[in-house]
Amino acid sequence: MLTLIDLELGIWTNLRNGEQVLIRKFRRTDGEALYEFFTKGLSPESQKLYSLQPLDRSLVNIVVSEADAPDILRLVAFRGEKIVGYAYWRQQMFNPKIPLLSIAIADSHQGLGLGMAMMELLIEGAKLKGMEGIELHVFKHNRRAIALYRKLGFEIVGETDGSRQWIMLLRFDRDER
Ligand SMILES: CC(C)(COP(=O)(O)OP(=O)(O)OC[C@H]1O[C@@H](n2cnc3c(N)ncnc32)[C@H](O)[C@@H]1OP(=O)(O)O)[C@@H](O)C(=O)NCCC(=O)NCCS
Repeated sequence: MLTLIDLELGIWTNLRNGEQVLIRKFRRTDGEALYEFFTKGLSPESQKLYSLQPLDRSLVNIVVSEADAPDILRLVAFRGEKIVGYAYWRQQMFNPKIPLLSIAIADSHQGLGLGMAMMELLIEGAKLKGMEGIELHVFKHNRRAIALYRKLGFEIVGETDGSRQWIMLLRFDRDER
């Protein structure tokens, strides 16, 4: 069974192409690797699907400053020294037991099962931390992401961002928590 210490130390995960990546909690020292991931690992298309805000140094600085925040579970997937996946959830002020999730996989590593692996760890981590579910927002045209979320049990519960994005929710069963 997964523990929060496993997430600190890292979990080796096999990808569909035979590569192994280490998925672990983001550390303060990962800032430069994250900047490289945002600016070189993600194509302009992936950047747009992932984030409404610029993926620049100031964002990286904020992420680094939040490295030990108790209301965020932020994971990175390393292939060697390079980050190839980045995903997190953050507790929301108005609904603290249903955190908001966000994920991006490097273009070079999409379609290899890494998104699924990182989502599963974030979901397990949320259960370990006593959350009641997870929410996310996804552009309606992002078929790949929606297929992944549906596979994990997320359901559409509304729309946001001027109707451009679905709000999807995965509610944990009481006995899973
Ligand atoms: C969306 C994203 C997170 C998915 O991660 P991934 O590692 O590429 O996906 P996985 O390989 O784990 O695939 C998981 C499921 O997604 C679906 N999927 C994967 N590739 C797909 C494709 N090319 N077309 C349609 N569905 C696809 C499948 O249902 C797949 O399940 P399967 O492996 O059992 O067939 C990733 O592609 C990504 O970061 N894209 C750019 C940024 C983005 O869209 N972020 C999400 C914002 S809400």
